[in-house]
Amino acid sequence: MKIGLFDSGVGGLFVLKEMLDIFPNNEYIYFGDTKNLPYGEKSKDELKEYSSKIIKFLFEKKVDIIIIACGTISTNIYNDIKNNYDIKIYDIVSPTIKYINSSKYKKIGIIGTKKTIESNFFENNIEKETISLACPNLVQLIENKEDDKIKEYIKENFKIFKNVDSLILGCTHYPYMEENINKLLKIDTVNMGKVLINNLKVSNSKKFKLDLYFSKITPSLKKNVNDILKNNYKIKEKVL
Ligand code: DGL
Repeated sequence: MKIGLFDSGVGGLFVLKEMLDIFPNNEYIYFGDTKNLPYGEKSKDELKEYSSKIIKFLFEKKVDIIIIACGTISTNIYNDIKNNYDIKIYDIVSPTIKYINSSKYKKIGIIGTKKTIESNFFENNIEKETISLACPNLVQLIENKEDDKIKEYIKENFKIFKNVDSLILGCTHYPYMEENINKLLKIDTVNMGKVLINNLKVSNSKKFKLDLYFSKITPSLKKNVNDILKNNYKIKEKVL
């Protein structure tokens, strides 16, 4: 099977990593729109413009399915784009919402980009008590691997979650700091990529192939990609 995934940057690689672990023998094409990052600060029209270019690119590469490995696109414009193409497009948030609604958790924390939290998508669909926080700047810190600043950010801003039963990492970049959140705050976290993969029906084919495209190659990108995927893959620059 040929699977396309996309995000604004390296965040969707955490979803890809889960897929590679469970379905290693497939063809994958990943697009990270680093030139237009951060998506969490963009208008809906801009998000529609970026995602339609990427979907067209993946479609022309003849993928069988597309996974929107981005919380911001999934919560803001999924309904506008999901039926525009003759191909199955999966969003990243709805499996997590289903999982949370059927879980034993009572009080749910949500962190996401400004645009995701403003959409109220999680709050409107989760049938539990919720507390949410928009995290501006965090995506850039993760893209640039500014680990000390990320730890400070967690300590300073995430205290409000100390009584939640579970914290949803509502942006696909956030598994980058999952270990630190668990360690520093001692709370359970939900990684949307893991939940999606557990609910996805994908057949393994015989051949493995991975193409990684980014719209802008930044200084820390190569190391970030290798660290997340725990392998040394080639990255290509592609402006759409
Ligand atoms: N990783 C994306 C998300 O899940 C986009 C983050 C951004 O570019 O602001 O929301």
